[in-house]
Amino acid sequence: MSDSYNKSKSLYNRASKSLAGGVSSQIRLTDMPTPLFFEQGSGAKLWDVDGNEYIDYVLGQGPNIFGHAPEFLHKRVTEDIKQGIIFAGQHQLEIDVAESIKEIVPCAELVRFASSGSEVTQAAIRLARAYTGKNKFIKFEGHYHGWIDSVLYGVAPDTDQLGSTAPGSQGLSLGSKEEIVILPWNDTQALEEVIKKQGSEIAAVITEPIMCNTNCILPKPGYLENMRSQCTNNDIVLIFDEVITGFRVALGGAQSYTGVTPDLATYAKAMAGGYPAAMFCGKKEIMSQLEDSSVIHAGTLNSNVIAMSAAAETIKALQQENGELYRKMYAIGDELIQGIKDIAATYEINLSVQGIGTVFNTSFTYKSAITNYEEHLKYTDVETFKKFRADLQNNGVRITSRGTWMLSTAHTVDDIKKTLHAVETAIKSL
Ligand SMILES: Cc1ncc(COP(=O)(O)O)c(C=O)c1O
Repeated sequence: MSDSYNKSKSLYNRASKSLAGGVSSQIRLTDMPTPLFFEQGSGAKLWDVDGNEYIDYVLGQGPNIFGHAPEFLHKRVTEDIKQGIIFAGQHQLEIDVAESIKEIVPCAELVRFASSGSEVTQAAIRLARAYTGKNKFIKFEGHYHGWIDSVLYGVAPDTDQLGSTAPGSQGLSLGSKEEIVILPWNDTQALEEVIKKQGSEIAAVITEPIMCNTNCILPKPGYLENMRSQCTNNDIVLIFDEVITGFRVALGGAQSYTGVTPDLATYAKAMAGGYPAAMFCGKKEIMSQLEDSSVIHAGTLNSNVIAMSAAAETIKALQQENGELYRKMYAIGDELIQGIKDIAATYEINLSVQGIGTVFNTSFTYKSAITNYEEHLKYTDVETFKKFRADLQNNGVRITSRGTWMLSTAHTVDDIKKTLHAVETAIKSL
């Protein structure tokens, strides 16, 4: 590992003169010591322009469930796009994928395709409003549902902003602030109180079913079940944002994993193995509002052949041998989690690992568990984490700036061994 980033630094310098901020997505600015430029990915490995090699647990922020540049997927897509890519009309492949999704995803009675996670959460909220005739919705602190105005509140508030509709950006529509209720997650009482008071105004509850965007927090036992019944009892549409969990924690997403079925769900990232595709799906009576155009959802790129071909092949591969690839991913991920915990114990470091085999988070805290955003803010040591992440990167392991690790079917036992070696080196240097 050269741990030199000179070429990335110089490219970033050049990029800043033509690309706003030098990047195409704000999150890439969190790369250290500079936004990195990559040259090649293959399986679980990634190489930057300076020749640094990484075992990659960022996986493009989640989509690369088969690792980088999966040949079987490229082969299928290359074959299918000989037909053309986009027709401003229908093609059979999208029926095939929708039929598969109906089989796989518990809530999916009807499906619609799109291109990104940010747009499908908007579509789900619109459907919920139209269906209930109500306007407000509940969103949880520390959850991220895309960059659009309506949901960019309470994503990463500071301590003095807790419990408020803290905007995640300047320039948001003032109206959207009035329509959102921000609550702490994993808190049944808080949800019950708000629904009791404002239930008649609330169209939807939108939640990450596993809080992957902060500390990878699992729902407390009974929490999602209670949310489910409160929504049912109060004419509120329950939306699971499965943009990260979909196809990652199980083929059917967190709703399969937890056994709680929402009314609507949104998917993107891993559903097409790294190709750009997204979808929302759910109960027929809600989704069918799209049939007569009483609710509008459109998009030039929706269900293009590239996206549908990749999604079809992704589903086919993940379904093989009754989910063999999931068993493999979980086995490797669980081994990695245990290995990190063992190293932390050996060196008596308060390094906590939360989550499950295919997606988990590392943070520095003396708490035995972080259960919501406020605890994440109060009890995790961000500065130590930053140093840990930088040391991991310098030792050839790449994780997200939020401490998330994602597994792919390409990660091997050998990758885990090398990763644990890097973890030990990073911990020793803390
Ligand atoms: C849970 C969740 N929802 C929605 C989004 C937005 O998806 P996209 O970046 O594809 O617009 C993200 C992105 O990270 C996400 O994590």
